[in-house]
Amino acid sequence: MSSNVIAIDGPAASGKSTVARALSERLGIPYVSTGSLYRALAWKMLNRKLDPAAISAEELAVFLADTSIACRRPEPQAPLDIEIDGVFPGGKLQTAEISAAASKVATYPEVRTWLLDVQRSLAGKTRIVMEGRDIGTAIFPDAKYKFFLTASPEVRAKRRLLQSGRPFDRQTLDTVAREIAARDEQDRSRKTAPLRQAEDAVCLDNSGMDLEQTLQFILETIQRKDILMGKETVLQYRVPYADTDQMGVVYYANYLKYFEMFRTEMLIAAGESYQKMEEHGYSLPVIEAVCRYKSPAHFEDILSVTGCVAECKGVRVRIECRIHRGDTLLAEGYTVHACINRDGRPVRVPATISGLMTEKE
Ligand code: C5P
Repeated sequence: MSSNVIAIDGPAASGKSTVARALSERLGIPYVSTGSLYRALAWKMLNRKLDPAAISAEELAVFLADTSIACRRPEPQAPLDIEIDGVFPGGKLQTAEISAAASKVATYPEVRTWLLDVQRSLAGKTRIVMEGRDIGTAIFPDAKYKFFLTASPEVRAKRRLLQSGRPFDRQTLDTVAREIAARDEQDRSRKTAPLRQAEDAVCLDNSGMDLEQTLQFILETIQRKDILMGKETVLQYRVPYADTDQMGVVYYANYLKYFEMFRTEMLIAAGESYQKMEEHGYSLPVIEAVCRYKSPAHFEDILSVTGCVAECKGVRVRIECRIHRGDTLLAEGYTVHACINRDGRPVRVPATISGLMTEKE
């Protein structure tokens, strides 16, 4: 089973925190900045007058054994925050000095291993947004949603300076861009869990985008994935009188029509369309249809239809479908399609369809 984590990785100042925080508010789910874990360790090291760049293996082992770190809410309604040795350092972690030190602390494999459980323990049944450098690659390689956010070095430096609210000149901009580049280099070149895009992450260069545009892109990508995993309703349909029979319930054969309506909408929601596929010379005639009827639907009921591309083997594809009224499952089943070309010959299912197959929960 995959983790219910929305992983947002990317280089420094690429807008990850802002986007992750806004996303968590929009979705009403918790948010964790994993960078704050490294920052908290760096903060403690600096307070202890330890040099994060030159700490010995023995010193580090003693330091970690003597540290307790957790991610929890300081108050019941507050957002998740980092607590180190019973203290919430909060804004103290956001200085340039701590940024540079955190990047050094993060190079130690012992530190990364030590922080693994803290981070993994945060995933649960409900979704969570986690932002960092290695969430989609090392912490939650099985995360359901993975994004890699990036932006040009100049845009990132500008954003960082604008955040501070103080006026800045070209020279300051160049200095900050250099600091950011140095941190990127440190993060990309370290041996353990270096900063890199997970193969299955959706990459977004948001240099020319504002927060709302970035957020919309991420929300739409999540929704598309949910649709393909059969988690989100693709079609809502109010039963017309014409669909019912003399018993006053939806005529059984109509469910296959609903299955078909669902397939059409699912393809469109996924950015494809059956018509487009036919234009490219592919058709998907049904060679098997199964429907199990659980409870009848009536005139004016609102039906919610969900489903997914469940299996794709050679020239065949199986598409599942479920029909609910509210929480009540009314019918479920599937259709198996053979893929044929314009001459009616079986051909391999095109990637536009097989690519829609996603891991089911
Ligand atoms: O994201 P933030 O700037 O707060 O991260 C501080 C530092 O912590 C980064 O420069 C990086 O070196 C390190 N980090 C990491 N892995 C993460 C999150 C942050 O190595 N998942």
